Amino acid sequence: MGIDSAVLESYWMPFTANRDFKKHPRMIVGARDHYYQTADGRQAYDAFSGLWTSGLGHCHPKIVEAVQQQVATLDFAMSFQAGHEKAFRLADELSELAPEGFTRCFFTNSGSESVDTALKIVLACHRARGEGQRTCLIGRERGYHGVNFGGMSVGGMSPNRKAFGSSLLPAVDHLPHTHNLEHNAFSKGQPQWGAHLADELERLVALHDGSNIAAVIVEPVAGSTGVLPPPLGYLQRLREICDQHGILLIFDEVITAFGRVGAPFAAQRFGVIPDIITTAKGLTNGVIPMGAVLVRDEVYDSFMQGPGQMIELFHGYTYSGHPVAAAAALATLEVYREEDAFAQARELERHFEQVIHSLDDHPKVIDVRNFGLMGAVEIAPRPGAAGMRGMEMHKKCFWDEDLVIRNGMDVLQFSPFLNSRPEDLTMTFEKIKKVMDRID
Ligand SMILES: Cc1ncc(COP(=O)(O)O)c(C=O)c1O
Repeated sequence: MGIDSAVLESYWMPFTANRDFKKHPRMIVGARDHYYQTADGRQAYDAFSGLWTSGLGHCHPKIVEAVQQQVATLDFAMSFQAGHEKAFRLADELSELAPEGFTRCFFTNSGSESVDTALKIVLACHRARGEGQRTCLIGRERGYHGVNFGGMSVGGMSPNRKAFGSSLLPAVDHLPHTHNLEHNAFSKGQPQWGAHLADELERLVALHDGSNIAAVIVEPVAGSTGVLPPPLGYLQRLREICDQHGILLIFDEVITAFGRVGAPFAAQRFGVIPDIITTAKGLTNGVIPMGAVLVRDEVYDSFMQGPGQMIELFHGYTYSGHPVAAAAALATLEVYREEDAFAQARELERHFEQVIHSLDDHPKVIDVRNFGLMGAVEIAPRPGAAGMRGMEMHKKCFWDEDLVIRNGMDVLQFSPFLNSRPEDLTMTFEKIKKVMDRID
């Protein structure tokens, strides 16, 4: 394995069963194109493109070169009250890619920071507009918005919340999630059933009074909870209700931006335009941590009212717009354009849908769902041992089939490369079936 087991002890791994992992560690030593190299010398196919991050494949030469050049030219630049060209160019390019009217961009270092930045922007925006009473934030059950306090509070995955006290941010409520096995199981793309669940926002408006609600935040396609595509008409309805009550709508596109749903942003794919879009992951193809929060002009303009020499938003990170991250992101955007990666992803969708739904009839499978290049296979939990089958699938795929997948409990998740070879997608689900047949 190449690493002394004593050396494994100190690193407290994120979202990982540390003790179990360290008994039989799944170590990766290299990555290229669509494969990881494992510490025991195997090439393992990456069916999750990093962690929803690396749609263009690993170690893309153009991105690697951009990073190498940048780190040797300008490794860091003072980020408050000083600037460097690449951050400005990147913001400009992002606003070209974004839906019309999104001409402003704030940089962060992760999805969690993008979400907390967006939540702070909405609170401060209402206050700047003389509506400081709008402090209530609405998330959704089964939503994932990262792990910082704001994102955790509006998030709706209970294991991510329960150890940290129930109060979190004080003025938060949640919409119901849209997953329903009775009505939506084995949907291909957007489910027909469920648009009415957006009307639950009316109930929350009545409860809290719309004039107290600052924002609604949702993932256009919920990702980490196990891929829940929005029911047809659902996002449109949310937008309408927000408009009726002066509520800002945030789309958390940390996963869905940059081609994952066959368009630059899910907002464009669904034809529903929010007020704020949060991003990270695919922004740099996962090469360097970076996030970006894109805001509509009206939101930005609300801040630009006081004396011009005053700071307008008391918020920012040491590494906002970091030169090396900005160089990685600019190179990534260039490769997306050159390789027409979003169109490629869109073309792959049909094949992906076919091969993932080849598991529909498997006796252990209780649901298969997909949208764009996001997919999930939900397997029946082992009685009294929820999550164990999913974890066993993950391990057996890694050790026996040279295949890296992700499981959230018993939901297997798939995030193919935007430039996947169709035969690799076919191979992925043949292997999944083989492993599923073998486990009990
Ligand atoms: C929708 C969404 N928001 C926020 C995050 C948090 O991103 P990060 O892990 O980069 O903080 C994630 C991560 O998967 C995500 O999927």
